[in-house]
Amino acid sequence: MNTILQVNQVSKTYRSGGTRVRAVHEVSLSVEPGRMVAIMGASGSGKSTLLHLIGGLDVPDAGQVMVDGQDITRMSDRRRTLFRRRNMGIIFQTFNLLPTLTASENIAVPLLVDGMKSAAIGSRVEEMTRLVHLEQRANHRPQAMSGGEQQRVAIARALLNDPILVLADEPTGNLDSISASEIWGLLARLAREFGKTVLMVTHEPAAAARADRIYVLKDGSIVGTIDEVNGDAALVAARYTQLAG
Ligand SMILES: Nc1ncnc2c1ncn2[C@@H]1O[C@H](COP(=O)(O)OP(=O)(O)O)[C@@H](O)[C@H]1O
Ligand SMILES: [Mg+2]
Repeated sequence: MNTILQVNQVSKTYRSGGTRVRAVHEVSLSVEPGRMVAIMGASGSGKSTLLHLIGGLDVPDAGQVMVDGQDITRMSDRRRTLFRRRNMGIIFQTFNLLPTLTASENIAVPLLVDGMKSAAIGSRVEEMTRLVHLEQRANHRPQAMSGGEQQRVAIARALLNDPILVLADEPTGNLDSISASEIWGLLARLAREFGKTVLMVTHEPAAAARADRIYVLKDGSIVGTIDEVNGDAALVAARYTQLAG
């Protein structure tokens, strides 16, 4: 089976002043197309660093990140940025919406940046708005939307380029449990229904339980995997404690 994402022995150490923090240490993982994978770990375990390395927002000190067969760690900054814009969609805990723009306008931002014609933008934005069930909110500004709705805008924006890889960094960290559950359902649907490859980092068992496979991260290293949990958050919590507790 071909892999969409292959991470080989990736390491990243931060140096600030005289101290060194080994944020990610020799991490390897691979994800097949159409799968949803979670990376689960405590605060400070290196989840965001790893996601940034996979998304090409940062480069590792050692190791390779292969996305759709291409080693993004060997690309120039400019090529990596272009590659990310064309092939990846990234969702953050903070929704990063522009406060003066409506939901539709926020969703359209990446296309405007890419210089797409406005007629083509309209139909693509409408399509994404429907996908995240925000038809009724299209003309609302962020402040008039709930946190869950704002995150759905951010997800629609991230899907606009029809990414092969969707990355989410604690996407429900700022949401109530009902909104969080909707977002996890939406991310799972992207994989099951639309064949997207989804990688989510989280510290929440209920979030990780939605994934086909969970990699457990502790102190920058993968300490084990959890498979076939079928949404059972209690099972995830128990296995996670065995591996990382
Ligand atoms: N830019 C940075 N400079 C220095 N240390 C950092 C930086 N970013 C993260 N770290 C450190 O690396 C470790 C992993 O951080 P992070 O990847 O943010 O973990 P998580 O997302 O799991 O909470 C932590 O010890 C954190 O303090
Ligand atoms: Mg983090």
